[in-house]
Amino acid sequence: MKKDFLLSSNDQLEKFAGIVNGDHPLKKVTPEEKIKVGVDLGTSSIVLTVLDSKNQIVYGAYEYDHAVQDGIVVNFMESVNILRRLKAKAEKVLGRELTTACGAIPPKTGEKSAKVVANVIEETGMMCTGIEDEPTAAAKFLRLSNGTVVDIGGGTTGISIFQNNKLIHVIDEATGGFHMTLVLGGRYKIKNDEAEKLKRNKEKEQEVYSVIKPVVEKMAAIVQNMGAEINDPVIVVGGATNFTEFTTTFSKVLKRKVYKPLYPQFVTPLGIAMFDE
Ligand SMILES: Nc1ncnc2c1ncn2[C@@H]1O[C@H](COP(=O)(O)OP(=O)(O)OP(=O)(O)O)[C@@H](O)[C@H]1O
Ligand SMILES: [Mg+2]
Repeated sequence: MKKDFLLSSNDQLEKFAGIVNGDHPLKKVTPEEKIKVGVDLGTSSIVLTVLDSKNQIVYGAYEYDHAVQDGIVVNFMESVNILRRLKAKAEKVLGRELTTACGAIPPKTGEKSAKVVANVIEETGMMCTGIEDEPTAAAKFLRLSNGTVVDIGGGTTGISIFQNNKLIHVIDEATGGFHMTLVLGGRYKIKNDEAEKLKRNKEKEQEVYSVIKPVVEKMAAIVQNMGAEINDPVIVVGGATNFTEFTTTFSKVLKRKVYKPLYPQFVTPLGIAMFDE
């Protein structure tokens, strides 16, 4: 595995983060040009991604939500309302309508949850062109044909092993960044909202990480004990991996190199849009 295999993904992710934060200029698209839209209904946020036909980044935005639990939509109208707002904002900025979108669900969550995600998308006036599974979307964005993707979001950890572009093994655990927040809250006797802020405070990162490190070790142990042979490279994605020492801890438990792209929370949402065709 070449050392710099994440380089082009990182370029894209940096650009996407710049657009989301409003400090990167948008790529112009003509009204005739095909655009591809991805919708990631996550436990922690709903992310809208827009790419051009060559998978170049056009636009992105997100909003925090509480409408999804353990990867399943539990509040249909809240999801629809958030997505409606994100879509309206995108259309205003881009000066054109979003007509299609692809969605995604954690693996093994079943037909019914795929249908709910499709319904959320269609309720906002877009035609749903497909529902992918989340790790496959992440692997597509990372251009990974062989390897293991560990996606640690707010409420779920998905571990997926790929071989020759095929998903050969997958498990999904109900643990994620929210679990870290609970541990922090318990340690400092503070409410969830406050613990969530503390967790993301870069200035407190060392102290915070020493408290949540056992959670990260447990997550790595889940990967180690999943009962299937791990394929290299191991790549961690998802918002909960946003700690400098995260990959070091994971590497120690797994006894192999672990990679993390920049802005790991945007990998899956960008991969989802690549399937809107
Ligand atoms: N800078 C940060 N430092 C620490 N944790 C972070 C940071 N940014 C986001 N997180 C955590 O990442 C989690 C959200 O990750 P992500 O956006 O990948 O989840 P999601 O896709 O909404 O959820 P899921 O995949 O579980 O449905 C939250 O628990 C959040 O607290
Ligand atoms: Mg997610």
